[in-house]
Amino acid sequence: MVPREIRPGIFWVGVNDRTTDLFEGIWPLPHGVSYNAYLVVGRKIALIDSVKEHYAEEFVRNIAEVVEPARIDYLVVNHMEPDHSGALPLLRRMAPNAEILAAPPARPMLAGFYGIAERVRAVADGERLDLGGKILSFHHIPFVHWPETMATYEETEGVLFPCDAFGGFRALDGVLFADEVDFSLYEDEILRYFANIVGMQSQAVLRAIEKLKGLRIEVIAPSHGLIWRKNPERVVELYARWARMEGEAGVALIFGSMYGETRKAAEALARGVAEEGLPVRVLDAGRIHPSFLVRDAWRFSGLALGSPTYDAGVFPPVEYALRLLERKRLKNRVVALFGSHGWKGGALRKLREKVEELGWEVVGELGFPGEPGPGELSGARELGKALAQRIKTLAKI
Ligand code: FEO
Repeated sequence: MVPREIRPGIFWVGVNDRTTDLFEGIWPLPHGVSYNAYLVVGRKIALIDSVKEHYAEEFVRNIAEVVEPARIDYLVVNHMEPDHSGALPLLRRMAPNAEILAAPPARPMLAGFYGIAERVRAVADGERLDLGGKILSFHHIPFVHWPETMATYEETEGVLFPCDAFGGFRALDGVLFADEVDFSLYEDEILRYFANIVGMQSQAVLRAIEKLKGLRIEVIAPSHGLIWRKNPERVVELYARWARMEGEAGVALIFGSMYGETRKAAEALARGVAEEGLPVRVLDAGRIHPSFLVRDAWRFSGLALGSPTYDAGVFPPVEYALRLLERKRLKNRVVALFGSHGWKGGALRKLREKVEELGWEVVGELGFPGEPGPGELSGARELGKALAQRIKTLAKI
C-alpha cells in the first residue's frame, strides 16, 4: 500500500500485515490486519502512531515518500502495544530530533519495552499542540485498550485518531475508506477484533465515546482497518452497541461433540431456532478457533451451548470458549444447554453453574445418554424454539 493523503496535509503511511498468523500470539488473522499511522504536516510535522517492528523498514519507506523522516518533529504515541510502537527504535534513529508525545503512563512502558527515556514528554488530557497550520489535541482514553491509551485529534480538519478504538481486523485491500468497500466483507472482522481485543474494556469504550462526542469529528482514522470519512457515526454506533452488549436477535450455537451425538442435537436445536425465524450460527468448538465463537456470542443475544460430558465435566473446547467469554465479561445473554453423556452426566450441571454465575438466563436444558432418539431430537428442536421465543420476547419482536 502506498501513502495516501486522506485530508489536506494528513497522510496515511501505514502498512498491511499479511504474514502474522496470530495477532497477540493468539488470534488468527485469515485476512490480515493493517497498522495505520498518519503524518500530519503543518509547519511542523507529527507522526501519529507507528507499526509492528517487523514492518518498520517498509513503514519508514512509506514516510519517506511524503517527508524526509529526519524532518519529523513529534512522534505521537497513542498506545504502547507493540503493534503500534514497534517501529519506535528505528524512528528514533531516523528522526533523532523528534520528541515523543504520549500520556503519562506510557513513560515507564517506553523505558521497559525500548529503553527510551530521552526526549519523551507526557501530554496532559486536553493539551493542544500548534503545528502551524495544523493543531493537535490529546485526549486520554485509558483502557481502550491499555491504561496509557489516548486519542489524538486534528482540529482544522476534524480528524480523530483513536488508535485501537473503532478499528478492526482485515487488511486494507487496496482501499482505505469504509465508503470504498462492501462493508459486509469487513464487519465480521471488525466485530471479531472488538470482541476479542477490546470487548473486556467495554465500559472504557463507552466512557471514551461519551468523552469524545463533543469534538467536531469529520473523519475517524483508527490504527487498524478502515478509515471513516463519510458517516463516521456508523462505526461509533456499532462500537457503542457492542460495548453495551446489546446482542442482535439470533443465536450462536456453540457445541463440541466426540462421536456425533451432541452434534445431532445441535442440528435439531438449530432447526428449532430457524423455524422461529431467527438467524443461528452453528459453531463446532473443536474445529473453529475460539475467537470466532467469541465474535458470534457477542453478535447475538442468544447462546446455545452443547457439550458431551468429558472427564466428568464440560468438553474442553466448549469450556475454553466459555472461559474466554467470562474473561471478556460478556453480559445479557439467554442460554439453552444440551449434551450427551456416556454413563453419567456432569457437563450440563457445570455449564449451568457457570452460566448462572455469569448472570445469564437459562431458558432450558436437555441432557441424554448416548445417541439422541426421536424424542430427544424433538426435545432439542423444542428447546431451540423456546430459546428463540424468549429472545423475541426480550427484543419485542
Ligand atoms: Fe492495536 Fe492494543 O493495539
